[in-house]
Amino acid sequence: MSGFQSPRGLRDLLEPLASAHGWATDRAWAAADAAGYARIELPIAEESALFERAVGGTSDIVSKELYRLEPRGDDAVTLALRPEATAGAVRAYIQHGMRSQPQPVRLATVAQLFRYDRPQKGRYRQFTQFDIEAIGDGGPGIDLEVIEMGAAYLRDLGLTDVQVHLNSVGCTTCRPAYGCTTCRPAYVETLRAHFTPVVQELSQVDQSRLATNPLRLLDSKEPATVKRAASAPAITDHLCADCAAHHAAVTTGLATIGVAVLPAPRLVRGLDYYTRTAWEYLLPGEQGQQGALGGGGRYDGLVELLGGTPTPGIGFAIGIDRVVLALEARGLLPIAASGPAIVVAGIEPESVAERVAIAAQLRAAGASARADVSTRKIGKQLEGAVRDGALAVIIVEPDGRLTLRDLVKASQAEPAERGGVIAAVLRLVQNEG
Ligand code: HAM
Repeated sequence: MSGFQSPRGLRDLLEPLASAHGWATDRAWAAADAAGYARIELPIAEESALFERAVGGTSDIVSKELYRLEPRGDDAVTLALRPEATAGAVRAYIQHGMRSQPQPVRLATVAQLFRYDRPQKGRYRQFTQFDIEAIGDGGPGIDLEVIEMGAAYLRDLGLTDVQVHLNSVGCTTCRPAYGCTTCRPAYVETLRAHFTPVVQELSQVDQSRLATNPLRLLDSKEPATVKRAASAPAITDHLCADCAAHHAAVTTGLATIGVAVLPAPRLVRGLDYYTRTAWEYLLPGEQGQQGALGGGGRYDGLVELLGGTPTPGIGFAIGIDRVVLALEARGLLPIAASGPAIVVAGIEPESVAERVAIAAQLRAAGASARADVSTRKIGKQLEGAVRDGALAVIIVEPDGRLTLRDLVKASQAEPAERGGVIAAVLRLVQNEG
């Protein structure tokens, strides 16, 4: 093989996928705007330590998949390409003092992310997420808003069979001193006890997870761990009273607003910052990871963990690449951007500048137009316009007048002055449009 190739897991997007990505992205921004979420653009790299602390050092995303950048001269810290957007959004919330704004602060972004994972269909090393964060409200109402928004976004794209798998992963703040002996810390011990008898069968990585962070065993992909996880105790049987009440309010609230959910008692998600509500948007019947279109959860300890005042938060991210794959599989891809409606051709090579000027004038008037800038014979130029699917061709005659040829009706007018022809072609495009 000669020449350069795109790096493994980093794709070129050609039509019709490029247009479909753009379309799904536009719809994402529109959904966020409609719900009053402020747009935020975050840097593509942050301090590695931000992700290590937020997402967790034992998560796959940090321990195996983080792209760290080699420090450059004046870099005081090691940077990493962002593997997700939540940590950056929370960092920005703290850095810009958004706590002084009315709470919750609603933020939305569409972000390109990087994870060093084994590439396969639906899993890439560079991918795009539609990400929503609502920071500063701990009540169940905002959970309903956010979960519904993601479900509605997917449904409105045409993915009407999306399922919401819902769980609560409890909290980490309950302590006997606060009258609470259940919830996450107690559950983690139950989980440890469940896996300990099979410790010898687990991989090295999962053995160390058993020691340091047993919750991560529930999203391990190792066969021995997956097998044992199937019979693991459910965290929903171990919630403290506050977490149980929150979960019940979210569950009944979703039923009230008509979002159907499937209980998923072993869903913990692969990131350490989650507390309480956690969910995924799944497409039934898809292979492997492809059906996992998105996921989200509460992160009530994250602002504090990153150095801010204790503040609850919740959000989701939906993978645009997987959305586009699902649309493609269902024959729902939007029509790719087509060729221009009008082509401006010319009899003589000297008319090239005039053709470019007319095409620019048509575009300025709102039409889609391009000039044929070649020195080909007029017949070839007309063939090119037909191949492009143009509705009409304007031909610049040797005397400077213009001839309008309607490619749909296969009719041609007499040569005329520029103003009249441009008005006629704009009317034609409007009627066809
Ligand atoms: P996540 O589950 O890691 O959550 O990613 C969310 C979605 O991003 C996945 O469901 C999938 O559609 C897409 N995705 C993840 N990795 C890849 C990949 N390698 N290739 C293609 N698509 C991928 C988060 O990232 C959290 N930050 C979500 C969140 C926001 N939680 C609270 N706020």
